[in-house]
Amino acid sequence: PLKRIEKVADMAQAARRLASEGKSIGFVPTMGFLHEGHLALAAEARKENDVVIMSIFVNPAQFGPGEDFEGYPRDLERDAELAEKAGVDLLFHPSSEEMYPEDSDIRILPGRQAGVLCGASRPGHFDGVLKVLTKLFHLARPERAYFGQKDAQQLAIIETFVRDYNFPLEIRRVPTVREKDGLAKSSRNVRLTAQERRQAPSIYEALREGARVLRETGDAELALGTVGHSLGSIPGAETDYAEILEYPSLFPLSSESREAIIAAAVRFSGARLIDNILIPLK
Ligand code: PAJ
Repeated sequence: PLKRIEKVADMAQAARRLASEGKSIGFVPTMGFLHEGHLALAAEARKENDVVIMSIFVNPAQFGPGEDFEGYPRDLERDAELAEKAGVDLLFHPSSEEMYPEDSDIRILPGRQAGVLCGASRPGHFDGVLKVLTKLFHLARPERAYFGQKDAQQLAIIETFVRDYNFPLEIRRVPTVREKDGLAKSSRNVRLTAQERRQAPSIYEALREGARVLRETGDAELALGTVGHSLGSIPGAETDYAEILEYPSLFPLSSESREAIIAAAVRFSGARLIDNILIPLK
C-alpha cells in the first residue's frame, strides 16, 4: 500500500532507512493533478528500482508574479489513488511551510540555458525548479530520477545541473505522452475552453510540419517559418515563442549539432501550453 509522508524530517528518515537497507530508489517529482504523462514516469521508475518515491508539491518558487500558482489544479486524494495504482510506494506531499519554513538567502542560478525558450518569458522560473529539486534530491536520495521530454528545457537544465554539481543520481528521460489527437498531456489542459481544446492539437501538428521540413531540407530557418506560420493561424492562440535550437545544449543550431529541438509555447485564454519535438541530425 501507498505510504504518505508530509514532513521533511519523515521523508529524510524513510529514505535514509531504505538506502541503509541497500534498496535502490527511483524518484518522480511532480506538481500533482496526475495524468498519464506522470504515470509513465512512475512506470519507468517501477521497472528500474526497488522502491518508487513520488513527490507532489506545487512549488511556489517556480511561479512568477501573475502566473497560475493559486489556480494550479490540485486533487491530492485522486492523485494518491492513481499513484498507488501506478506502483508508487511512497508519496511525499509537503506543505509550502514545510518545504520553505523561511526564504533561504542562498540562490541557485542557472545560466544561459535558462535564458532561452520558456526562460525568456518566465524569469526566475528555472531557479525555482532547481531550488526545489535540490531539496527533494537530498531528501529522497534517489539513484535515478525521472523527467518527461514534454518539459525539454527543464530536462536539459537538470541534466546539466546534476552533471556539473555531481549529484549522485542518474537523470532518466521519458518520452512525451499524448492524447489520441496529439495534444501533449498536461495538468493545465483542463483549463482550456471546449473550443480551445479543439484547437490545441494544432500545436503538435505545427511542430511536426516543421520537423518534416527540417528533415527534408536541412533548412532550419525554413522549418521555423513553417512552424511560425501554422501556429499563427490557430484561432484564439497567441504564440509566446517558436524556436529551433541544438539539444540539449540549447545553443543555436550548427553544422556540428547532433540533435535539434523544435519547441513552442502558445497562450490560450486559460492556459499557456508548451510542446516540442526532438530531431536526431546525425
Ligand atoms: P509537473 O509539470 O507536474 O511535471 C512532472 C513531470 O512529469 C516532469 O518531469 C514533466 O516533464 C513530466 N510530464 C508532464 N507531462 C508529461 C507528458 N505529457 N509526457 C511525459 N512526461 C510528462 O515539471 C514539474 O512538474 C516541476 O517543474 C517539477 C520538476 C516537479 C519541479 O517542481
